[in-house]
Amino acid sequence: MQADVIVVGGGVAGLTAALAVAEAGGQVALVAGAIGGGSSPWAQGGIAAALGADDSPAAHLADTLTCGGGLVDEAAARVLTEEAPARVADLLAWGVPFDREADGTLALGREGGHCRRRIIHAGGGATGWHIVQTLASVVRETSRVRLLEGVTVIALRTGLHGVSGVELRWPDGRVGQLDGPVVLATGGCAGLYQRSTNPETVNGGGIVLGWQAGAALVDLEFVQFHPTALALPVPALGERALLLTEALRGEGAWLCDARGRRLLAEGPLAHPQAELAPRDVVARAIHTARQEGPVFLSLRHLDAVAVRARFPNLVTLLQPLGLDLARDLLPVAPAAHYVMGGLWSDQHGATTVPGLYVAGEVAGTGVHGANRLASNSLLECVVFGRRAGLAALAGRPPQGLDELLAAGCELVAEAPLPPPGSAMPAKLGTLLDQQLGVVRDEAGLLDVLARLPEEGAALVARRIALGAWLRRESRGAHFRTDCPAPQSAWCGRIVQQRGVPPLLVPVGAPAQVGGRR
Ligand code: SIN
Repeated sequence: MQADVIVVGGGVAGLTAALAVAEAGGQVALVAGAIGGGSSPWAQGGIAAALGADDSPAAHLADTLTCGGGLVDEAAARVLTEEAPARVADLLAWGVPFDREADGTLALGREGGHCRRRIIHAGGGATGWHIVQTLASVVRETSRVRLLEGVTVIALRTGLHGVSGVELRWPDGRVGQLDGPVVLATGGCAGLYQRSTNPETVNGGGIVLGWQAGAALVDLEFVQFHPTALALPVPALGERALLLTEALRGEGAWLCDARGRRLLAEGPLAHPQAELAPRDVVARAIHTARQEGPVFLSLRHLDAVAVRARFPNLVTLLQPLGLDLARDLLPVAPAAHYVMGGLWSDQHGATTVPGLYVAGEVAGTGVHGANRLASNSLLECVVFGRRAGLAALAGRPPQGLDELLAAGCELVAEAPLPPPGSAMPAKLGTLLDQQLGVVRDEAGLLDVLARLPEEGAALVARRIALGAWLRRESRGAHFRTDCPAPQSAWCGRIVQQRGVPPLLVPVGAPAQVGGRR
């Protein structure tokens, strides 16, 4: 079997890539456990785009850069923010039912780190679900997209010329292969954590496939913890944490201690942007405050009717727990939410391996730097999903790392690295929560490195730990108690590749060191 482009992943990035290829006249094979699955349907807040009369892509870019802790690839972020309005227009044309004001204009919400209202949303806080449902129905009606649903990619086929296709397994155990360039749109790996806002299936599977095919990883130490996941079990979600969208704070929700004191407005954790400070700041503040006692999200001071009308999905999710979104104090704690890093990618999804492209959370484009701006993730799926699909169809060449090695980017560890462990720990998620969470230190990171084998999901976790151990500073979402400040020497991106020593590369590389684009 053959396709012009094979897309792996049925979330927003994969569906967008498939539609872009089909619209350009290519034949697509879309392989996914479930079309419309992954973490996309769990995304609540919305999608950021400079659509307001008082807004501009330049202002959106500036917020993206400010949040990213000095590691945002500005050229990639410019692509993200400038193409955002056009990609939103595509979503509207496909029929995504974004929420509107009474006058019919798109309703714009606000979230942390944004200087103004620019988040469009659907179903209140059910944006991801509405987008994937709409895209999935368009894809199902597109004759150039062949769906291989419920089918698993067990490996990438590689040869002298890079990736040439995929090896597949059907649910009944049959195996087969498919030839063509591959776009991985398999999501991130935050579901590896026990306390996570992602489904367990978001476990870095695409990162492992890429690594095995020789692709480089970047920025993996930067895991974003969402500040406000409900700190109570939700039976409907099993072990997963219920996200209480940042859009709640955008509408005025407060973060309080048990005495009702606003944590980010007064006292030692205060920040000029209060509850709308960047996500890494708020997550650390809640983590710190919880050492003393519970932290609550409170909407009690807001108009209850308006709150319930704005967030109907959360009203419904909280009701079985006996909680009223508008009137109860909601205990919250950070939860693993998103990984800024992934498989090294240029602005068109090209990796370091010919024939292999990436889009969405699995990609390390550098648009998020060390800390992603809220609601830039669904946006990256549509902007870079389209670009990766078209790049794969056109056979865009890869980027090599040779120039980076020649430019002296090799990163020498200060101490010997413990050899990998030999057995997968029984509770990988708990280990990650404890040692690779909001706050890290050298002893915990070395513990993870010594325990985890270099295979499967543990490989991804071990590579997160390696990046976090090498990076002897704190920056963005990566905070180490043993080196709590940013260091200018670390203002670069850590690249890891099988058989190659880790590299610390300048932001914007390889263009800056003459790499192949
Ligand atoms: C949220 O709804 O708070 C999550 C939005 C995001 O992760 O960008």
